[in-house]
Amino acid sequence: MAKNLVLYYSATGTTKAVAEKVAQQLGADMAEIHPITPYSSADLNWHDNKSRTSIEQHEHNSRVEVVDDFPDLSNYENILIGHPIWWAIPPRMINATIDTLDLNGKTLTGFATSGGSSYDRSQSNLARTVEQNGYDLTLNQGAILSNNDRQISIWLNSLTLN
Ligand SMILES: Cc1cc2nc3c(=O)[nH]c(=O)nc-3n(C[C@H](O)[C@H](O)[C@H](O)COP(=O)(O)O)c2cc1C
Repeated sequence: MAKNLVLYYSATGTTKAVAEKVAQQLGADMAEIHPITPYSSADLNWHDNKSRTSIEQHEHNSRVEVVDDFPDLSNYENILIGHPIWWAIPPRMINATIDTLDLNGKTLTGFATSGGSSYDRSQSNLARTVEQNGYDLTLNQGAILSNNDRQISIWLNSLTLN
C-alpha cells in the first residue's frame, strides 16, 4: 500500500488531470473530495457576485461541508490536496477537508491549477486552517502546477516528505 495519498477536487477536470500526474509520479493513492452539495455551472459563475462560489469564497473563514468518505489515513504519511483556485484561495471544502481529517504527524501539501493566480494566498489559507485545528504537522510550500511532467517532478523533488 502506498504511503502517499493525493486528495483532489476538480470542478471542470483541469486539476484532476494534474492530480493524476502527481499521484502517478509519487506512487500515491488517489481519492476525490465530494462536497455534500455539488456545484452547478451557475454556482461556478464568477461574473455573478451572488453566485454560490462568489458568496462562499467572500465569506471570511467559511466552510463547505464534505462527504466523509475519505480513505483511512492511518497508513498514509504524506497527504497532498489538489484544488482549483477560486477567488485567489482554495474552495471552502478544502478547509472542511482539513478539519475532517486527522492530520497530526503527517506532511500536508497543497497544489492547484488556476487561470493565473499564484499559490501565495492559498498557502496562507491552508496554514491558518492547520493552526485552527492545532495540528502538529509539516506543511510544505504548495504550487500552481500545469499538466507538465517536468514541472511536476521538479516541484515534487522540492518537498519534505516522510
Ligand atoms: C468560481 C471560480 C473562481 C475562480 N477564481 C480564480 C482566481 O481567483 N484566480 C485564477 O487564477 N483563476 C480562477 N479561476 C479559474 C480556475 O482556478 C481554473 O480554471 C482552474 O484550472 C479550474 O480547475 P478545475 O478544472 O479542476 O476545476 C476561478 C474559477 C472559478 C470557477
